[in-house]
Amino acid sequence: MNRACRLWPLPWRACANLGFRTLNSASSYSAFSFRASPTFTASSRLPGTVEVSKQRFEELLESEMVHFARAMKPHPMTLQQILHLRDPTELREFLLEELPIRYARRVQLIESLPGWNSFGSMRMIRSLYFDAFRRLRALTQEDKDSFRSELQAIKRRNGNMLFHVVRGARAMRTNTTLADEQVNRFLDEFLTARIGTDILSSQYLAITRPDTPTSVVNPECDPVGVVRSAARDAATLCRHHYGWSPPIDIVDVGQVRFPFISQYLNYIMFELLKNSLRAMVEKFGSRPEAEAYPIRVVICGDDDTVVLRVSDSGGGIPLDDMEQVWSYMYTTARPACEEASNGEMSPNEDDDSDDDGVAPLAGFGCGLPLSRPCYVGGWLELNSIPEFGTDTYLYLNRAGNAQEELRTDLDAALPIRGSLLNGAYYSSASSVSPNL
Ligand SMILES: Nc1ncnc2c1ncn2[C@@H]1O[C@H](COP(=O)(O)OP(=O)(O)OP(=O)(O)O)[C@@H](O)[C@H]1O
Ligand SMILES: [Mg+2]
Repeated sequence: MNRACRLWPLPWRACANLGFRTLNSASSYSAFSFRASPTFTASSRLPGTVEVSKQRFEELLESEMVHFARAMKPHPMTLQQILHLRDPTELREFLLEELPIRYARRVQLIESLPGWNSFGSMRMIRSLYFDAFRRLRALTQEDKDSFRSELQAIKRRNGNMLFHVVRGARAMRTNTTLADEQVNRFLDEFLTARIGTDILSSQYLAITRPDTPTSVVNPECDPVGVVRSAARDAATLCRHHYGWSPPIDIVDVGQVRFPFISQYLNYIMFELLKNSLRAMVEKFGSRPEAEAYPIRVVICGDDDTVVLRVSDSGGGIPLDDMEQVWSYMYTTARPACEEASNGEMSPNEDDDSDDDGVAPLAGFGCGLPLSRPCYVGGWLELNSIPEFGTDTYLYLNRAGNAQEELRTDLDAALPIRGSLLNGAYYSSASSVSPNL
């Protein structure tokens, strides 16, 4: 018996003994049939339900979450597998177990950061994931419509997660002994895992779309079309901020089609092109000066790999800085967020994005690290010719058979049993120095 089971045996044993429904998989069970109640009233019990106090209910959920994080394993997926998840009932059954496991592991990851509980952003993220866990655990497999609306609600509520988690992690870097490397590793793991969860949820929403069911994975993704659209958007943003935009040439060498998530590719190419546009604008003063040096995107590949190269003549990156560009804390632009005295970040007061609601072209410092397509087994390389320009290479798995990068082990220390009440749970969990 593993450590998690030894420490936290009660809730799931209780469920089995009380005859709660069980899932197909022997290792798990369906949603609680608990009803939180201020007092336990045996006479008002509905068949198959147990009434517990609200506080006890929260404790049970907390301990169930530890069980999900520690004793159950997420299932890493490939894009091909996601593409073939087309049966709403099967996918719902799968997600009712898979998503809570993934949310629970995200909570454990947060708790693995020493002192996380002193930072508002981290507490908020934890509570958002706990809420998502609770919402899904309250559903049964028959709750078809509720499942869809809960997924939508979770997605909506978690919409600003990226901003909060980067903000929280940076604040922790500034105000604790956490090293840059630990923060970067935490963000890498957290954000990569988040992409997987988001894609699985999006797949369910896509295949149950009332009028036109579809898949989140495009079996015939056209990278050239995606790059054209990303280039249009990046150029529009550039013109908005600088009044002009350098030229972009798109060269389609291979007429590639492959299974991929078009929005994900669009996101990556938009980030890479924004970087090139900014570098060009800062090197050349106007469009006529830049005309002879278009940013060039080449798209090609062989049977296994699709390659997209973005080349610019924007002055390159000093070779000494090449390591740092992958850090979530590195930017040479005026930061889009500034740190307040409490270590939390607030939007830059005279930032363009505040004035007119339009995002800045650079300054968040996360464009490159977030564009590494490790989620689907690809990689991103950057080569600089200092004083001349930068070549960025994006390599993607063409067959869609690379497995999602998902850690199936967990280093985070377990909370100490018995200290759940009055918030002591949080401080005891966070006082254990994790091996991030
Ligand atoms: N093509 C490029 N040419 C020159 N410098 C670049 C290029 N791409 C990236 N960089 C350097 O790497 C830094 C980090 O890039 P990254 O995209 O991660 O963050 P950012 O552009 O500063 O902010 P944002 O997250 O808003 O994109 C940039 O600030 C810039 O100094
Ligand atoms: Mg950028």
